[in-house]
Parts: sequence; structure tokens; C-alpha cells
Amino acid sequence: MDQLALKAIERIAAERRAPYQHITVERITPIIGAEIGGVDLSQPLSDEQFTEIRRAFLENHVVVFRDQHLTVDEHKAFGRLFGELRALPVEDIDGDDPELVVIRANAQSRYVAGETWHTDGTADLAPSMGSMLYVKETPAIGTGGDTLFANMHLALEMLSPTMQQFLGELTAIHDGAIPWKGYEAPANLPKTEHPVVVRHPDTGRQTLFVNSGFTSHIVQLSGGESQVLLNMLFDLVAREPVLSCRVRWSPNTLVFWDNRCTQHHAVWDYFPHSRYGERVTILGTQPKA
Ligand code: SIN
Repeated sequence: MDQLALKAIERIAAERRAPYQHITVERITPIIGAEIGGVDLSQPLSDEQFTEIRRAFLENHVVVFRDQHLTVDEHKAFGRLFGELRALPVEDIDGDDPELVVIRANAQSRYVAGETWHTDGTADLAPSMGSMLYVKETPAIGTGGDTLFANMHLALEMLSPTMQQFLGELTAIHDGAIPWKGYEAPANLPKTEHPVVVRHPDTGRQTLFVNSGFTSHIVQLSGGESQVLLNMLFDLVAREPVLSCRVRWSPNTLVFWDNRCTQHHAVWDYFPHSRYGERVTILGTQPKA
């Protein structure tokens, strides 16, 4: 690992965190992810529990709640504690609830959602602040179907100061049609220009905001330059294991991730077995440099 990367990791890993009084928090790695315990999401949360869950989310970027038994309404109610839910046209989704994205794979599947590194919904003018996926069924084979999550603050900090400064002057186009390449795409997919480096609206920390799932090109560069630069940034996420944690799902696990500073990748390594989950997405704000 190079010295820049080591320094960035050292700094993040050494951040002092106040203890938790109302929930338990066990970090998955020093960089990203935490398992949260001592809370039943089907019941109303106390103010103290909510405040600590929010802090754990901002500190760890991905929080995992196991053994939760939630109705769709309880899942949505937990999501609404953090903001309004994103609704999609029913004709574009699997299922009939505009606020619920069904994530389903089985022996008939020819692709699964999220099978590349991406951040949900970055082609929107105001991309989502976070997603909550509640997995009810995991592969019967007893293993597989994990999700990887990468910390994009650290991805930025692993680059040289010169590269960080250069990226800070650029904007990129995020195109909602990219995931639909080769398939019949819905009409009116969004396409938006965002800064390549943005500030997290809650923590003020800078983060790298391009992803291979939606980012088509960098506006200020030639086509060839843009492709080389984006490939370098996409490869960083794919090739640096230290950026990411791996969540192993068990039935009735809910994971809440921060779309403003993470990318994720669903691993489809369990075909022809089935996996089933439901996701709500919480609306966010327009990213700012
Ligand atoms: C997604 O939201 O991209 C799907 C993640 C997963 O299935 O683990």
C-alpha cells in the first residue's frame, strides 16, 4: 500500500468516537461499516436511540441491523425518520409500491440489481441520501449474496494532493440510461451534471462522487481523457480492498447505507439460488462542491 493511502487510513482509524449509551455499535472494519444492536426497528425509537443511530450512520457510513421483523409500513416508517422516500413510476419497477424497490434473484434471473460498483440514483438532480435494504430471504445454499460497500471519503484521500485539486475543478455527467444499456429502458431517465468532488452535507467532509454505474464522462475533458481518468477512479474502488467492508446477510437483516459517501456492489455468486429483499430510498439534496 502506498504512503498516502496508509496515512489516510491511519487518520480515519484513529478518529476518536464518543461511546454509545442507548445502542451497541461494533465496527466491521476501522474504515467502514458497523453492526448495530440493542434496538427493535418495529417499535418506536426513543430520541436517544434515534440520535445514536444517526451518529453511528454518519461515523460508519453503513449500518447493519440484524433479526428485525418489519412490515413494509414499519420499514418505510424507519426510512421516513431520515427524510422523504423516493417514489418511482410503478411501470418501471418490480412490484406495485412506488416507494419500495424489490430486489429479487432466482433461477430465472439473467441479471441482478446492483451487480457493479455504483451509488444509487446519482443521475437525479438531488440524489438520494441513503438506502435501506431489508433482506428477508438469503440463498438456501447457506452462503453467498453478500454486498460490498466502499468508503468514498477514503478513496479521495488516497489520491495525491495534486490529483485531488485537479478533480476538485471538474464536473461529471451522471446518466440514468447507463444501467439500462442492452435492455428496453423506461422513458425520461434523468441525466445530471455534478461536481466530481462534493462535500457531505452533514459532516462537511469531501468525497469522490463518480461511479461506474452512472457516470458517463467528465465535462471539461476530451472523450479519451475523461475515459482514462474515470477508469482510474473506478479501478481504485475495485482494486483497493481496504476501502470496503463486506456485509454477509442473514434473513431479516436491514442495512442502511449513506449514498453521499459510499458505493456498493451486490455479489451474485449464488445462482441458481434465490435471494429476496425490499429497499426504500431516502431523498437527498443536490451535491455541492
Ligand atoms: C442495490 O441496491 O444496488 C442492491 C444491493 C444488494 O442487492 O445487495
